[in-house]
Amino acid sequence: MELIGAAIERVDGPLKVTGKAPYSADVVLPRMTHAVLVLSTIPSGQITTLDSTEAERMPGVLLVMSHRNAPRLPQGGKAGVKPPAGRVLSLFQDDLVHYNRQPIALVVAETLDQAESAATRVRVSYAPGASRLDFAAGKASAHAPAKINNDPADSARGSFDRQPGQPPAPGQSAARVAATYRTPIEHHNPMEPHATVAQWRDDQLTLYDATQFISGCRTTVAKTLGLAPDQVRVVCPYVGGGFGCKGSAWSHVPLAAIAAREVGRPVKLVLSREQMFGFVGCRPLTEQEFSVSAAQSGEFASIRHDVFSHTSMIEDFSEGAAVQTRILYDCPNLETRHRLVSLNVATPTFQRAPGHATGTFALESGLDELAYQLGMDPIALRLRNEPAVDPESKLPWSSRSLRACYASGAKAFGWGARKPEPRSMRDGAELVGWGYATATYPANRSPASAVARLTPDGVVVIQCGTQDLGTGTYTIMAQVAAQTLGFPLDRVRVELGDSRLPEAPVSGGSQSAASVTPAVQAAAAALREKLIAFATGGDSVPLHHPAAIAAALARNGGSEIVAVGSAEPGDAKKHHSLHSFGAVFVEVRVDPELSIIRVPRVVARYSVGRLLNETTGRSQLLGGVVWGIGMALMEESVLDSRYGRIVNANLAEYHVPTNADIGSIDVDVVPEFDPFIDPLGARGIGEIGITGVAAAIANAVYHATGVRVRQLPITLDKLLV
Ligand code: MOS
Repeated sequence: MELIGAAIERVDGPLKVTGKAPYSADVVLPRMTHAVLVLSTIPSGQITTLDSTEAERMPGVLLVMSHRNAPRLPQGGKAGVKPPAGRVLSLFQDDLVHYNRQPIALVVAETLDQAESAATRVRVSYAPGASRLDFAAGKASAHAPAKINNDPADSARGSFDRQPGQPPAPGQSAARVAATYRTPIEHHNPMEPHATVAQWRDDQLTLYDATQFISGCRTTVAKTLGLAPDQVRVVCPYVGGGFGCKGSAWSHVPLAAIAAREVGRPVKLVLSREQMFGFVGCRPLTEQEFSVSAAQSGEFASIRHDVFSHTSMIEDFSEGAAVQTRILYDCPNLETRHRLVSLNVATPTFQRAPGHATGTFALESGLDELAYQLGMDPIALRLRNEPAVDPESKLPWSSRSLRACYASGAKAFGWGARKPEPRSMRDGAELVGWGYATATYPANRSPASAVARLTPDGVVVIQCGTQDLGTGTYTIMAQVAAQTLGFPLDRVRVELGDSRLPEAPVSGGSQSAASVTPAVQAAAAALREKLIAFATGGDSVPLHHPAAIAAALARNGGSEIVAVGSAEPGDAKKHHSLHSFGAVFVEVRVDPELSIIRVPRVVARYSVGRLLNETTGRSQLLGGVVWGIGMALMEESVLDSRYGRIVNANLAEYHVPTNADIGSIDVDVVPEFDPFIDPLGARGIGEIGITGVAAAIANAVYHATGVRVRQLPITLDKLLV
């Protein structure tokens, strides 16, 4: 049976629905204590007094740790580990406050209640400093980041005169759009909050941490505390969602480790939902000045995409919102820039499809505006500019089936029946709008290793130091191993989430499937070779047959048979441009009197290489689309520009879609095998699903109402114009 690609349900599903899958906050250790953070109440300044006398006298309190008594760390706690694992942390090394809700003290007590109560009795006074909280004002002194991950901050090809604030020179162009698109701060809010349990045995530290990157967490904590990497073990068998915020080890992780060493007992530190809107990252606010000019044929003459996004005073995080604009369409003259505005707020970070989720909102809204100017169908406009090769690098695509996505999606949606005029489609009193946008995300891959063990009970155990964010990593690893070995799926068991296992990359950048499954395949293939070698004597039974296994184990002296495998991306990116693509079609219904917007249906088709598991893969894409609907219509963290706090730091006032907000979502992939990303032909799918959705909804809202909303979220007040 073909297991790879099959619609197999999560192998860890029963553990999850029965509550038996242990998450980090579920860990209970003997003599464990509980820690609660005290956070700053000003955005900028200096702590003048921090009085812990009363807190220390409270029942059960074991430690109040602050800059007054925290151990001095090597390099002042600045570990020098690069993101995503290494960040500039707040580890009580000085008395300075750089953002509101900055960790400034940690209370450890026998029980959580005692720690929470004592945390309210830590008395702090400040000498407030000047604070920068106004993004618009900060734009004037915006600075260029060194880089955006692996991409340059600025790009230019072709030529046109750049006049600040002006659209590209029109030349012979028949149509021009120049507009500013805005996206708000958004917070990740996985169901499982950040949580760490730290335990020391002599000089060995074990961290049960909710993380997307066990080995990165190990490296960060080891360097921060001045330990050897093998003194730190990070364990995380299950993650209740990450979406980027768990890609980095934030301040609470080393703080829990330090506190556990100070009190000589294990420490559990779980963030509250309110704290999830704080020092653990967010999607930065963006302001994107986008302009495009085109000939009457639709052929692009020039494109400019300038991105401003916010960062903190202590670290640069840049949202690469113009990165996809460099490669998505043919355009001879194209410039992009990214600039950062530093504010007295916590550092933003990667959030599902960083750059591309926000950037496609501007690009794909702008192209919709251009299509109306030209009187062209939005898909015809994109087809007119479909590039044969990557227009920036001139490299061939590894595979790009976007035309097939356009065709398949348009057919399934019924796009041909669309009347292009705004406000021209109605159902009863309701305004109907149909909108389109293109999705895209880069295909990433990193080196990874795995082990395959045939155990004496005849089960193959596959081990890899990767993480399963809830996406199906356990399952696809089991599928690939079982098929490679010719074993039934239920005779393969997967172990992951332990930094002692062979190393794998961060489960971020949509790269785990493409990085880990080739290593699993290599390990399973190596084990299969060993089993075949042991099965001498013309054995005609299958390798997984009990008799064959018994014989192989006997010939191995009765002990388990172990094989290792490693895989790395090689130089694929030197000769090919590796990206995923998609076509997103949306219908909105708008109440003409109340401007309530609903999304009854979405059709999306993706070019992502081969899907390794039809069930979990489609769920990933579907979840991305759901989040795209939230991004388009609901999500916004409101920053109080006086105090630098998030006003709506709770899930009652920070809105995300519920079941009642979601209609029909039809996601599928077009048949594809990407031979350049990995031997399985599969590109990652964790992030592309959110891209394009916000623009498709904005475009549908325009089609329904004639109102162009260039600022997310598209709440009903923005239609009352
Ligand atoms: Mo993803 S935002 O790289 O976890």
